[in-house]
Amino acid sequence: MKLAFIGGGVMAQGLIKGVLDSSLAKPSDISVGEIDQQKCSELSKRYGVMVDTNNTKVVENGELIILAVKPQNLSEVASQINGMLTADQTVISVIAGARISTLVELLGHQPVIRVMPNTPAQIGKGMILWMCSKKVKSEVAKKTQSMLKTLGVEIQIHDEQYLDMATALSASGPAYVFTFIEALVDAGVFIGLPRHMAKELTLQTVLGSTQLAIESGKHTAELRDMVASPGGTTVEALLALEEGEFRSTVMNAVIAAYEKSLSLGGE
Ligand SMILES: NC(=O)c1ccc[n+]([C@@H]2O[C@H](COP(=O)([O-])OP(=O)(O)OC[C@H]3O[C@@H](n4cnc5c(N)ncnc54)[C@H](OP(=O)(O)O)[C@@H]3O)[C@@H](O)[C@H]2O)c1
Repeated sequence: MKLAFIGGGVMAQGLIKGVLDSSLAKPSDISVGEIDQQKCSELSKRYGVMVDTNNTKVVENGELIILAVKPQNLSEVASQINGMLTADQTVISVIAGARISTLVELLGHQPVIRVMPNTPAQIGKGMILWMCSKKVKSEVAKKTQSMLKTLGVEIQIHDEQYLDMATALSASGPAYVFTFIEALVDAGVFIGLPRHMAKELTLQTVLGSTQLAIESGKHTAELRDMVASPGGTTVEALLALEEGEFRSTVMNAVIAAYEKSLSLGGE
């Protein structure tokens, strides 16, 4: 598949690596429009792809045009390529918060796919939700799906409101998890563990617990109960979490992110 990226940063490179590693595309199938000259040379050296600082030149080379710039650069990029896109080209946007209707309007182009990844996608462990506009052909949706699979677990949705919900849960989620991890490490240090040990113990505990929840298929309450023996240490800690309103704090955090996501989208 012929891919043209606009923006060659972290997310674009995650995708480029993914499609090259899985042989979905060859370096000669990929071109990247990137304003930073130094990043251009890195991209061409690291992946052997075609790079150009001129986005309009790059767009001509792709059947899938992937917009991977920061939200504040969307209008500028869209105005550069508006009027250039042909009916057999589809635009895929990974830009947080950019709605399908906004993309269609800014680009003057109907076939558009909106993707909501998260940062673990950089190492192929992401959670990716995506949605097609009505004008996206089914074979293009299939190609997009195979490309997104290289970033992690993908789910195609057909109702855009789930993308706002995913923004608050899976897209912002790594920040919540990293904060939890940091607190656990600091707690380990507080009670006397060397920091490197506290970090290793925490990371493996979070990773292992997640894998156990996935692989066992058991309810998390059941898995928690297996750790908390009567009158023991764990239940003592669980009481402290309840007193600190841990669960309602986490829920309120996600709700706050969701409300912010709606307000940024103009609802
Ligand atoms: N990183 C993630 O894990 C992640 C997760 C979810 C969603 N996203 C979304 O993915 C998008 C890209 O994020 P990112 O982390 O990959 O950002 P990034 O690393 O900053 O990459 C964006 C790249 O685009 C370049 N650029 C800026 N304006 C341009 C223009 N007019 N033409 C061509 N290139 C231009 C930037 O160059 P300069 O640095 O010189 O400006 C930068 O190299 C964002 O909209 C973000 O919301 C990212």
